[in-house]
Amino acid sequence: MAEIASYLAHEIRNPLNLISLTAHHIRNQFVPQKEELRNKFFELIESLNSEVEQLSKVVSHFMTMGRQSELQKINFTLSEIIDQVQVLVKQQLNSKNISMIISGEKSTLIRADIEQIRLVFLNLIVNAIAAVPIGGSIWFHIEPDSSGRAIKISISDNGTGIQEEDIEKIFDPYFTRKPGGTGLGLALVKRIIEEHDGTILAENRKEGGAHFEIILPKEGTSCQ
Ligand SMILES: Nc1ncnc2c1ncn2[C@@H]1O[C@H](COP(=O)(O)OP(=O)(O)OP(=O)(O)O)[C@@H](O)[C@H]1O
Ligand SMILES: [Mg+2]
Repeated sequence: MAEIASYLAHEIRNPLNLISLTAHHIRNQFVPQKEELRNKFFELIESLNSEVEQLSKVVSHFMTMGRQSELQKINFTLSEIIDQVQVLVKQQLNSKNISMIISGEKSTLIRADIEQIRLVFLNLIVNAIAAVPIGGSIWFHIEPDSSGRAIKISISDNGTGIQEEDIEKIFDPYFTRKPGGTGLGLALVKRIIEEHDGTILAENRKEGGAHFEIILPKEGTSCQ
């Protein structure tokens, strides 16, 4: 699957680049002499460019979804990546005056693909930042699950919450309620967690806001 995806992406990208360059060239060199044709000409070139851009975006997402899924597992503590993610989104948190509250056993050691788990947290936090109002809160809580072999990570916020009819769909690729959103964030999150033999679920908090719960095996063995 991964090979087909990257082959197709490659085969589509080249002609797309050519179309884009050609459009650029036509726009510069072949502007109609007649005044009354010019507006239409620019309009057509513009729509050609925006279609090309849209197609390129689809190709990029397709490639992300189709990437090789070799996990590079190492031992690390969740606090390490929470700190890193916090640094990455610091500006966004500050600009909306959002507090991030971390509690529980964040120094628990786990064995997983650190880059991938970082991507999971980043996507969930970026979504939460978008959902909360100014002055909102995001909670991060870590505790051992009942088996003792896995950890439970909860990420909650006091934002808009997920629309009831969307709860079944938010992990589907391309499902989005955001203008300009790809709808691939949560699909990627779910795939990464499942590749680690974990589970993820979403619900709304009674007090308002969304709640995501991840169960992740500490050693990467199955916890189901
Ligand atoms: N914390 C949250 N609170 C409320 N709704 C959420 C939250 N997280 C996700 N959603 C809903 O789930 C949808 C899908 O999320 P997902 O991350 O897959 O894509 P996106 O955020 O819309 O697009 P992108 O990730 O490309 O910016 C969102 O559009 C939003 O409607
Ligand atoms: Mg998102």
